[in-house]
Amino acid sequence: MRVDGRFRAAAHGRTRAAGRGRARTVALDREVRRDRGRAGGAGSGRGPLRPLRERTGIIGGMTSSLPLLPPNARVFVAGHRGLVGSAVARRLTADGHEVLTRGRADLDLRDAAATAAYLKDVRPDAVVLAAAKVGGIMANSTYPVQFLEENLQIQLSVIGGAHAAGVGRLLFLGSSCIYPKLAPQPIHEDALLTGPLEPTNEAYALAKIAGIVQVQSYRKQYGASYISAMPTNLYGPGDNFDLETSHVLPALVRRFHEAAAEGRDEVTLWGSGTPRREFLHVDDLAAACAVLLNTYDGDEPVNIGCGEDLTIRELAETVAEVTGFRGRLAWDTSKPDGTPRKLLDVSRLTSLGWKPGIPLRDGIAATYEWWREQS
Ligand SMILES: NC(=O)c1ccc[n+]([C@@H]2O[C@H](COP(=O)([O-])OP(=O)(O)OC[C@H]3O[C@@H](n4cnc5c(N)ncnc54)[C@H](OP(=O)(O)O)[C@@H]3O)[C@@H](O)[C@H]2O)c1
Repeated sequence: MRVDGRFRAAAHGRTRAAGRGRARTVALDREVRRDRGRAGGAGSGRGPLRPLRERTGIIGGMTSSLPLLPPNARVFVAGHRGLVGSAVARRLTADGHEVLTRGRADLDLRDAAATAAYLKDVRPDAVVLAAAKVGGIMANSTYPVQFLEENLQIQLSVIGGAHAAGVGRLLFLGSSCIYPKLAPQPIHEDALLTGPLEPTNEAYALAKIAGIVQVQSYRKQYGASYISAMPTNLYGPGDNFDLETSHVLPALVRRFHEAAAEGRDEVTLWGSGTPRREFLHVDDLAAACAVLLNTYDGDEPVNIGCGEDLTIRELAETVAEVTGFRGRLAWDTSKPDGTPRKLLDVSRLTSLGWKPGIPLRDGIAATYEWWREQS
């Protein structure tokens, strides 16, 4: 693994904090220089180096109490205009990091050569991969080729390009749809690859699973400090409110808002309202990503969720109350309900000291306010 200046500086910080003193720091510096000479840079084909943490013994096990991301790090957030990427960019900026971004018009992340050249040019300390081709059931089942190929291309470009540029730290964002359709609830990370996927988004899920394996392979073969996280359903500022393509929560916000504005006395929703789902505010997700970037260095993906679910009926009632819709909710039970329950087991994440901070009703109210300001 090529260790750039900032990653090395963070390692030095940890060495000092561990109380091993200047002599150890200097020794480490020599070791890093020696390794750089030997390695000839990442991707040089001269054989993998053991990761810095193993060679120094600074970070034992999966986690570290000292930040793995150096202070004032330069972090490339891929997909910074999206729901997730924009929240992660806000969070990292608030934490004092420098967020590097590149719009799709200037850098199409499917283009591996252009992405590698960009990453070599800017040489960030870390990369957060929040760029993806994302869509609902309809889009996924109509365009499986694009969902498979574009996501594979983006992942190959960004993860491979980051390694070739010597980036020391990377967080890859997947999705809870990677888990088998009938996984036991709440879904633990160990459920991965234990059963058939939901057929409607199989192509997307397989691309994301390939991303997890890609990250694990860079760890295994090159000792890269790359990690994966699997978020639950997200909502918040930056969400998509287009009724054709949006997820359930923003769709409900829009439908109830319009019904209230038009003075309607009934809104009909699909299904029975009984399926249970989990929702996390995207700012909580971003806080969890910051915790993972700072403390987690394990091979296994980490679920990100709030650990609690509610029925779609309860969600609809909350959204109706927030948006001021006082009419009746009707349920069209001729329409499909989908999986009865989808809740992530978040014990791996909470064991790192993270917990969600935004109650669902408050988060929906803030998101509603944000959307009204935009529209
Ligand atoms: N939203 C959720 O509820 C949710 C839940 C779980 C996991 N996730 C995961 O989080 C990640 C991000 O999702 P999101 O909801 O933030 O999606 P999003 O709002 O659609 O954002 C995706 C971002 O990726 C960018 N992008 C896509 N293809 C690109 C390309 N070829 N070149 C450059 N940029 C490209 C988009 O750029 P443009 O702005 O130019 O289109 C956009 O900024 C995905 O991996 C998704 O699976 C999301």
